[in-house]
Amino acid sequence: MIRVEDLHMHFGGIRAVDGASIEIEKGSITGLIGPNGAGKTTLFNVVAGHYTPTSGRVFLDGEDVTGLAPHELFHKGLLRTFQIAHEFSTLTVRDNLMMVPDAQKGENLLDAWLRPGQVRAQEQAIREKADDVIDFLEISHVADELAGNLSGGQKKLLELGRTMMVDAKIVFLDEVGAGVNRTLLNTIGDAIQRLNRERGYTFCMIEHDMDFISRLCDPVIVMAEGKVLAQGDVEAVKSDERVIEAYLGTGLKNKEPA
Ligand SMILES: Nc1ncnc2c1ncn2[C@@H]1O[C@H](COP(=O)(O)OP(=O)(O)O)[C@@H](O)[C@H]1O
Ligand SMILES: [Mg+2]
Repeated sequence: MIRVEDLHMHFGGIRAVDGASIEIEKGSITGLIGPNGAGKTTLFNVVAGHYTPTSGRVFLDGEDVTGLAPHELFHKGLLRTFQIAHEFSTLTVRDNLMMVPDAQKGENLLDAWLRPGQVRAQEQAIREKADDVIDFLEISHVADELAGNLSGGQKKLLELGRTMMVDAKIVFLDEVGAGVNRTLLNTIGDAIQRLNRERGYTFCMIEHDMDFISRLCDPVIVMAEGKVLAQGDVEAVKSDERVIEAYLGTGLKNKEPA
């Protein structure tokens, strides 16, 4: 579904991504791990259209999408969440969800004026969709809460919920598990698995928690110093000499992000 070919993203002298090639199979939950500073987030930023790469290409379903803007990729079904959740804190959880399709479409005032009935019907459909997402994620108890009042973990769940308001093909998750308590982490993990199995979402997720990775991801891609070091199932990469070496001094097991 995604093919990244010999990607470079340099910032001045810093080679954040330094010749990385990866493939993400349709229907997979692919893990992306590696020590801090390995270039994982930068790779996501390039793939999701936030940066134009120094060189290299990104393909989505065989189509060259290198350099497309985030909203163009969004319309092709490629979505991402951020390492730091970016909810609208003064809006309720439901409103945060309801504004996702709109924010991408752009408000059409003329439409609202000429066809108020149609716009109302659309809004009703979006509200129903939001309520579906709220049910799916089991967060109905906070649906009318201001998003700013949610716990860190609930905000991550809301981030995941935002990706469900449109028909996503592939979702890139940047550390959805970071700083989230065990119970909520399990809820997030279950939601990811269900979205994968029941709705055909493909995922690529950056994560530090190896238990979480083991439970969800196959395969796992390991990056270090801007390059892909290894790829395989969790057990294989965990016992790979180069991977152990890359993590030396940082500790592979359940390493918290700095
Ligand atoms: N916008 C930027 N400008 C300059 N350097 C950056 C920028 N973004 C990331 N870097 C650098 O690129 C390297 C990789 O960072 P990052 O992709 O965030 O790694 P990871 O997500 O694996 O921890 C780091 O050395 C980081 O400081
Ligand atoms: Mg990162």
